[in-house]
Amino acid sequence: PGFWAVIPAAGVGRRMGADRPKQYLPLAGRTVLEHTLDIFFRHPRISGVVLVISADDGWFKDLDIKANKPLWVVDGGTERCHSVLNGLGVLMNHVDSQDWVLVHDAARPCLSDEDLDHLLDTLHNDPVGGILATPVRDTKKRAGPDGRIAATVDRGAMWRAFTPQMFRLGALEQALAQALAEDFLVTDEASAMEHAGQAPLLVEGSARNIKITQPEDLSLAAFYLSRQQT
Ligand code: C5P
Repeated sequence: PGFWAVIPAAGVGRRMGADRPKQYLPLAGRTVLEHTLDIFFRHPRISGVVLVISADDGWFKDLDIKANKPLWVVDGGTERCHSVLNGLGVLMNHVDSQDWVLVHDAARPCLSDEDLDHLLDTLHNDPVGGILATPVRDTKKRAGPDGRIAATVDRGAMWRAFTPQMFRLGALEQALAQALAEDFLVTDEASAMEHAGQAPLLVEGSARNIKITQPEDLSLAAFYLSRQQT
């Protein structure tokens, strides 16, 4: 089967407080989004890419994209899950519903080739699919309404969910559509699959696969990228 990437890049990135959506901010001589797209264009096992951008995006046209495999660019929706569903819709019209789809945040430009390989190797025969994630290292506290600690949460079973999140195209499309129809809060693709009764696999990846959210994340990402190239 094929392995298709869907990159949701239709967010506004308000938490960055920048003059443009965070995927268009400069990072190590390019933009965040160019780095992210390049991961999937250069990886030999990825069949093609669906990029989801905002309908009123004025930035994408200025990027330097050298697509060496199929690339579809489609409009996003109000929430990330709507954007992802739009991307999956394009694939449903063009590829086999049993193919794999890897949904990866545009704002995660530090995904390494090794982690991507590890995800593909681990899941390509899996009945459900799964996600890149990393175990929680700090002690976790649950806050009470007064801002005091209400409980200490068992860290042993806690993971941080990253992307890519990899599922069969048809199954993911159905799970997302059903979750949205039922007003279930979809925070990532795995949450929709869980809602549909599936148990996605946690595939351990590097904690360097950060999501650019705040201004200081850009310096950290630049550092991680510089270390990847050596
Ligand atoms: O805002 P957040 O960091 O959670 O966004 C994660 C990813 O989802 C980003 O790459 C963002 O561009 C994308 N997104 C989207 N459509 C939305 C909201 C976010 O494609 N409506």
